[in-house]
Amino acid sequence: MKEYGTRTFGELYAERYDVMYEDPMVTETHDSVETLAELAGGGKVLELAIGTGRVALPLAARGLTVHGIEASEAMVAKLREKPGGSAIPVEIGDMAEARVEGTFDLIYLVFNTIFNLTTQEAQVRCFKNAARHLSARGMFVVETVVPDFSEYVDGQRMKGSWANMDAARFEIAIQDRVAQTVAFQRIVISEDSTRMVPHFMRYAWPSELDLMAQLAGLERRDRWAWWDRSPFTADSKSHVTVYARAGQ
Ligand SMILES: C[S@@+](CC[C@H](N)C(=O)[O-])C[C@H]1O[C@@H](n2cnc3c(N)ncnc32)[C@H](O)[C@@H]1O
Repeated sequence: MKEYGTRTFGELYAERYDVMYEDPMVTETHDSVETLAELAGGGKVLELAIGTGRVALPLAARGLTVHGIEASEAMVAKLREKPGGSAIPVEIGDMAEARVEGTFDLIYLVFNTIFNLTTQEAQVRCFKNAARHLSARGMFVVETVVPDFSEYVDGQRMKGSWANMDAARFEIAIQDRVAQTVAFQRIVISEDSTRMVPHFMRYAWPSELDLMAQLAGLERRDRWAWWDRSPFTADSKSHVTVYARAGQ
C-alpha cells in the first residue's frame, strides 16, 4: 500500500467518521475524557491526530486549553463545523514532525492512532515529537489495542460484517510479520457495484512502545487496561499508558 499516506485516512473517512464510530464512541469518549481531564489537572493540552474533535471538544468544553495536530484538512473541516470547533488551534501536519508553539502538561494520542504511522521509524519520531512538546511535569498518554492475531491463519484473516438480499460487507487483512504491518481492504459488494475502503497500519506491542518512549527520553509511569484505570494484565485487549520525562 505504497500510496497510503498520512492524509489518506482523513480523505477516506472524514465524511463518515463521526457516524461510523458513534455507538462504541459514546462510552469510550466519556471514559477517556474523564481520565484525560484528571491527568491534565487544569494544564495545557495537545492532541496528536485530533481528527474531528471527538475527545478534544469535550475537554475544551471543560475549560481546558486544547491544541491539536492533524494531517487531514478534511477531518479538521468536520471539527470546525461543530460548536466550539473553530476555537481550537490546529496545526495541519504530520504528528511525527509538526511543531506547535509552547509546551503542554498533557499530550495524548488515542484510538489506536499511533498505529496510523506505518513505520517503526515514524512511530519513534512521534514519541520524540511528543517529548519535545512536554512541559517539565507533562504526561504523554497513548491508548491502543494490544495486537491480537488469534483469528489469523497464515498471516491473513477474512471476516464478514453483514449481508442482506442485495449486498455484503467483508474485510480482508494481510499481515507482514516482519514489518509489523497489516493491510486491510473493507469491501462492500452488491449486484451492481463494489466499494473498497483500504486501511494500513503498523502495530507494536506495549513493550516496543515503552522502548520508543525510552528513545525519546521518557519513561512509563502507568499502564491501565482501559480508561477506568483497570489493571493491565497479560489478557488485556487494550492499554492506556502514561509516559513522563525520565527521572522526574
Ligand atoms: C482513528 S482517527 C482518530 C481521531 C481522533 N484522535 C479521535 O480519537 O477521534 C485517526 C486520525 O489520525 C489522523 N492521522 C493519521 N496519520 C496522521 C499523521 N501522521 N499525523 C497527524 N494525523 C494523522 C487521521 O487523519 C485521523 O484524523
